[in-house]
Amino acid sequence: MRLFYEYLNNLPAVVIKKLNNFIYQSSNFSPIEMDQLVFWIENEYEKVICILSIKILVLHFKNYAEIYNVSTHLSFRRLGFAYNLLKFAIDFIRHLIPDVIIWLGVDIENRNAIKLYHKLGFQTLNISNYTPSGKYRVKPFIEMLLNI
Ligand SMILES: CC(C)(COP(=O)(O)OP(=O)(O)OC[C@H]1O[C@@H](n2cnc3c(N)ncnc32)[C@H](O)[C@@H]1OP(=O)(O)O)[C@@H](O)C(=O)NCCC(=O)NCCS
Repeated sequence: MRLFYEYLNNLPAVVIKKLNNFIYQSSNFSPIEMDQLVFWIENEYEKVICILSIKILVLHFKNYAEIYNVSTHLSFRRLGFAYNLLKFAIDFIRHLIPDVIIWLGVDIENRNAIKLYHKLGFQTLNISNYTPSGKYRVKPFIEMLLNI
């Protein structure tokens, strides 16, 4: 089994795709935190429309990608940006790490986000206070996995 850092060695610093007038980008969070990636969509004025982060980690000899901080600018909501950016990020991560398990946690009351993740094929796993890396959150959240 190849671990994620072997894949990250081959990771380009910035990946760009253009769709209509929007630019989809990906970068390492920093040269130090190589296991964290940021994905975002910019318009032609270099304004960020939508953003998300992914942390890649190894647990019990499996590669996990934890998606977090998904957010769309208030003026650009309900236009498909979060859906498209998540698709772009998931395709990218799966290309990089084919056996990756894609995980996220979402607030129980966040109906819009839950709908968004269901539309992408995420399934509810559990209600939990712990992220896969063992981080405790006071408020319980719904754990979701893609293609369980
Ligand atoms: C949740 C959030 C990221 C959605 O971003 P978005 O770009 O507006 O979402 P999309 O336009 O891609 O929506 C895709 C699907 O999500 C669901 N959805 C998103 N917003 C919705 C809303 N206001 N009402 C109902 N369903 C909604 C729908 O199923 C939608 O598909 P549809 O338009 O075909 O019905 C955005 O509302 C946001 O930034 N919220 C604040 C931050 C947040 O809660 N982030 C999630 C943390 S887990």
